[in-house]
Amino acid sequence: MGRFDDLSARDRVMVALDCGPEEARALADKLEGHATWLKVGITLIYDGGLPLVKELRDRGFKIFVDSKFHDIPHQVRGAVMSAAHSGADLVTVHGSGSEKMLVACHEAAEQSLVEFGHKPYVIAITVLTSMDAEELAMVGVTRSIPDQAAALAKLAVDSGLDGIVCSPMEAREMRELLGPDALIVTPGVRPAGAALGDQSRVATPAAAVNAGASHIVVGRPITQAGDPVAAFESIVAEIEAR
Ligand code: C5P
Repeated sequence: MGRFDDLSARDRVMVALDCGPEEARALADKLEGHATWLKVGITLIYDGGLPLVKELRDRGFKIFVDSKFHDIPHQVRGAVMSAAHSGADLVTVHGSGSEKMLVACHEAAEQSLVEFGHKPYVIAITVLTSMDAEELAMVGVTRSIPDQAAALAKLAVDSGLDGIVCSPMEAREMRELLGPDALIVTPGVRPAGAALGDQSRVATPAAAVNAGASHIVVGRPITQAGDPVAAFESIVAEIEAR
């Protein structure tokens, strides 16, 4: 039995607010009382969105700060602490940043609990889904994308991180590799019949969770729906019915 097996469907859906602060607030107003998790990415953070993290957390949401940190250990240690202080419940870092960097992130999360009484989950990005084998080779990685993703995922969890972000297509093998307690967060999720946008390797919410995702990230199918709450609730219902 894994630590996320009992999560309700509602607590598994992370809504990506890829927009400016005003639109993010308007979406939060609608989703309050429905959604548990909101995802704040770097576009929103650098558009004055950082104060939103605390504001939305104070309103009862859990906040996934998709920070994608990658720097020297000293700097990421401080960055994870700062994100924790601002109220982040989950932060992302690049798994390719080295074992020392990942350990520093893990230690920073533990230290946040001591200093702020609040500890965010820290999870690793393995290989960006926008990269292909040729692009990976250009930055010096010649093993296959699945091998690279698996190696970085294992390194992250062995360094004390809580889990990884991956495509729903990789969720099953990542669950087998990392065991029942890892957080496995999958973007690239589309309800049946929804527009793909720029996503290509997609799965439905139910398929992603059945494959081993603990959480799914859904942006435009909810945020650009005529009725975001109805779109959110239908995804919840789909996961419940799986
Ligand atoms: O609108 P959509 O559902 O495609 O949004 C997916 C979210 O997940 C976006 O915030 C995007 O940045 C993020 N993401 C992704 N693919 C990755 C990592 C993150 O789509 N590999």
